[in-house]
Amino acid sequence: MNNLQQLFVNNREWSESIKQQDPEFFTKLARQQAPEYLWIGCADSRVPANEIVGLLPGELFVHRNIANVVLHTDLNCLSVMQFAVDVLKVKHIIVTGHYGCGGVRAAMRNKQLGLSDGWLRTIRDLYYEERHKLKQIPDEEAELDRMCELNVIRQVANVSHTSIVQNAWHRDQPLTVHGFIYGIKDGHLKDLDVTVSGPEQIPAQYRLGPP
Ligand code: CO
Repeated sequence: MNNLQQLFVNNREWSESIKQQDPEFFTKLARQQAPEYLWIGCADSRVPANEIVGLLPGELFVHRNIANVVLHTDLNCLSVMQFAVDVLKVKHIIVTGHYGCGGVRAAMRNKQLGLSDGWLRTIRDLYYEERHKLKQIPDEEAELDRMCELNVIRQVANVSHTSIVQNAWHRDQPLTVHGFIYGIKDGHLKDLDVTVSGPEQIPAQYRLGPP
């Protein structure tokens, strides 16, 4: 049996185990999805969104890319956000980074990786902006971990500055943006306490009037 066939064997075992607990699970799910959360996380294989927070299919709307970057020109991420907020009416957007992120590490070094260097460019800019504070950290791994946190904090700001989020607030639709970080070494998720739940929490320069 080759490796890909194993994936189908795993799939049948997984779906059977869910049906044992709730025979109607997939039938109910096929009718609609009503997730309360949008997860924006890293594509890293060690950070599987649903598993980390113990949520079943249907409970988490997910967008993942290298280093959990939110760019105002990225139609992919913005479309996921727009659909999640305007159509699914999620209540929380959770940006989740992780310690030891290879994307963040690459943005701190000079080695060329190829196309992904361009993707990571705004993290390189952030590293340059924060270089004086980061230089105080003597340990290289601790410096990377701090950069992983700073990256989440920057992406939370980017999410909350979008017209998608601000228009939800204009409509009095409850929507909160959170920044979490996950430890690959211990499996623990940590809240970075940078929660934004209204326009008064974002700088005046980024506040948008109603459409
Ligand atoms: Co990563």
